[in-house]
Amino acid sequence: MDQNDIKVLPMKDLTVDNITENVIRINSQNDDPRLTYVLERLVSHLHDFARETRLSTKEWKAAIDFLTAVGQICSDVRQEFILLSDILGLSLLVDSIDHPKPPQSTEGSVLGPFHSHEAQETPHGDMVSHDVNGEPCLILGSIRDSEGQPIGDVKIDMWETDSSGHYDVQYEDRQGPDGRCVMRSDASGNFWFKAIKPVSYPIPNDGPVGKLLSKLHRHPYRPAHMHFMFEKPGYDHLITALYLRGDPYETSDAVFGVKSSLLVDFQPADDSIAKRCDVKTGSLVLKHDFVLVSEEEANSLREEKSQKALADLGRMVKMVDGLPVPDVD
Ligand SMILES: [Fe+2]
Repeated sequence: MDQNDIKVLPMKDLTVDNITENVIRINSQNDDPRLTYVLERLVSHLHDFARETRLSTKEWKAAIDFLTAVGQICSDVRQEFILLSDILGLSLLVDSIDHPKPPQSTEGSVLGPFHSHEAQETPHGDMVSHDVNGEPCLILGSIRDSEGQPIGDVKIDMWETDSSGHYDVQYEDRQGPDGRCVMRSDASGNFWFKAIKPVSYPIPNDGPVGKLLSKLHRHPYRPAHMHFMFEKPGYDHLITALYLRGDPYETSDAVFGVKSSLLVDFQPADDSIAKRCDVKTGSLVLKHDFVLVSEEEANSLREEKSQKALADLGRMVKMVDGLPVPDVD
């Protein structure tokens, strides 16, 4: 759209009661219906929030200062905004909306702030942690579709902390990636690697998000877990994690990521596994079958749930590329 074609509305003397509709109107003069819809809802909720809380200027300034501090502590290896989204439950909510799961498929969990793109492609069977203090374990995974058919050549990304509860990117003197790997499932949908038994750990709490948690009398701990991400064209991108059953923080995860279907138990390695995978008999083994959803099934489920949710809210919308936009045609 030519800038000269945009009609500037005469807006002045706006009030508590009419500012929202005017801001929404001027934001709507663009070529992107999705942007229009997202901003319309954002402004509407944000203004209602201010009206409902009777937000004071002092509190508005405190919020600006807080968000500024969140941005200032971010770096290439520290993502305080993701942490903020996590502790507010937004990360899990967005994952649940954008990646709906039919029954029997592997549920998603939070990405968290510690995924990196540094992990090396690792052959099956390799040890991905260099932490000599960690308790070694063996992970035997399989990937299937909802019909139970194996899916080969899936890109698997895994990351975990060391035995002290820190990810590699949290060390300033790190030499390279550690406790993370990328591998591909074989033709039978299987993959396996050696790692260390996950431990529970506090999310970084020396920044503004940590201060907020402390003010809320919330602990910063996450139960022991191992993160996974699965990608293959034709399948819905899966970000998930496996959580050790019985962890003291199983029911109070600071970022709300735990789901019953993602709780796992280690078993002792039998002679056959020990011999095949070159581990000691009786050492820790974790077997898990992951079930991916086809992109087609995920898209259709997402659209079905979106339409129902928006109808329940009484919104006049249509779906474009699977996402709601204003129905104004
Ligand atoms: Fe984590």
